[in-house]
Amino acid sequence: MVTVKKFNKISDIVYTQMPQERYRFIEEGEDYDLALVRSAQLHETIFPKKLLAIARAGAGVNNLPVERCSEEGIVVFNTPGANANAVKELVLCGMMLACRRIVPGIQWVEQQRDEGAADVDKRMEKAKKDFVGGEIAGKTLGVIGLGAIGVMVANAAVALGMEVIGYDPFLSVDAALRLSRSVKLAKTQEELLGKCDFLTLHLPQTEKTKGMINESAIAAIKPGAVLLNFARGGLIDDEAVLAALDAEILARYVTDFPNDRIIRHPKVIAMPHLGASTPEAEENCARMAAAQLEEYLVNGNIKNSVNFPDCEYPRGEGWRIAIINKNVTNMMGQITAVLAQRQFNIEHMLNHSRGPWAYTLIDLLEQPDPACADALAAIDGVVRVRVIGGNA
Ligand code: MLT
Repeated sequence: MVTVKKFNKISDIVYTQMPQERYRFIEEGEDYDLALVRSAQLHETIFPKKLLAIARAGAGVNNLPVERCSEEGIVVFNTPGANANAVKELVLCGMMLACRRIVPGIQWVEQQRDEGAADVDKRMEKAKKDFVGGEIAGKTLGVIGLGAIGVMVANAAVALGMEVIGYDPFLSVDAALRLSRSVKLAKTQEELLGKCDFLTLHLPQTEKTKGMINESAIAAIKPGAVLLNFARGGLIDDEAVLAALDAEILARYVTDFPNDRIIRHPKVIAMPHLGASTPEAEENCARMAAAQLEEYLVNGNIKNSVNFPDCEYPRGEGWRIAIINKNVTNMMGQITAVLAQRQFNIEHMLNHSRGPWAYTLIDLLEQPDPACADALAAIDGVVRVRVIGGNA
């Protein structure tokens, strides 16, 4: 039985990928082989030595100690794209909330109800002049970050009649192929900032992106723009954004990441991290997270990891050795030497690297003995060796 710890409530759809005859799910306890998480903060969590992988049901992984996981040989997966439609829909809603006075209008109606006012149907015609707002068609939207969500937002905005400018220095071929040809690409962030009526952020929070919407970014923003942040709160320098709202450089700040300071400003429209909170997104994320864990456990294949490279090859007959190692000189030489000394013939081998880390799959027809696995594990720079076998 493989034990999976659920650090958050995760859709029951996981049981279709990880049947309860083979997987035991726990919510408490320190002894587990795999982990599923949504928003729980795991930076301080001590992981068991046997933990193979953590899957985050969502895109962002800033709640996880990714570097430490790499050192401990724990593969961290996320689920890119699985909740993209849900986030896209809320971003579109956010734009409309910012330019149409929908929330104050609803509040007016509710106030009439609460005060027991009569003839609302007649009085609203007079009241509505206070709730006039603009349209988004014909306006320019800037999208920073053209991953799964950014591309969907950009394409939807085009369909709604907006001019769209995108910026992503790391635009993947896959994303470029999915992006509407009507989306213009900016060469620099500054170029985009100066042209947009709406600016939306769709990039992860990392050391590099933390506080990216700061005083100097705001100096480049077209006055009167609306800033939308459905990515992560830490992308924003709160001080700079509040000052920009006061100075009317920003007309509104719409965010899914409120904090005590930000919510006090009348030009802030905040939601409690609702971007991915739809049953559809929760199911998609859970299904994808569970499928990736299962594939890694059963076949050693890695897809959508944030700390190790994608590395996939169909399992044949026989045994597979899966090795996580540092991406340094002569690792492959040492690994194959261990196998050669023991007369193992390699049927197939795959080695991919990503930054400081590499992952190696070696397929053998014969079963490697425990001493062979120990010898591989003893190589300096190897952090985990797993023998998966024998009847693929
Ligand atoms: C994400 O990173 O995709 C979202 O934060 C998911 C969530 O709401 O948990």
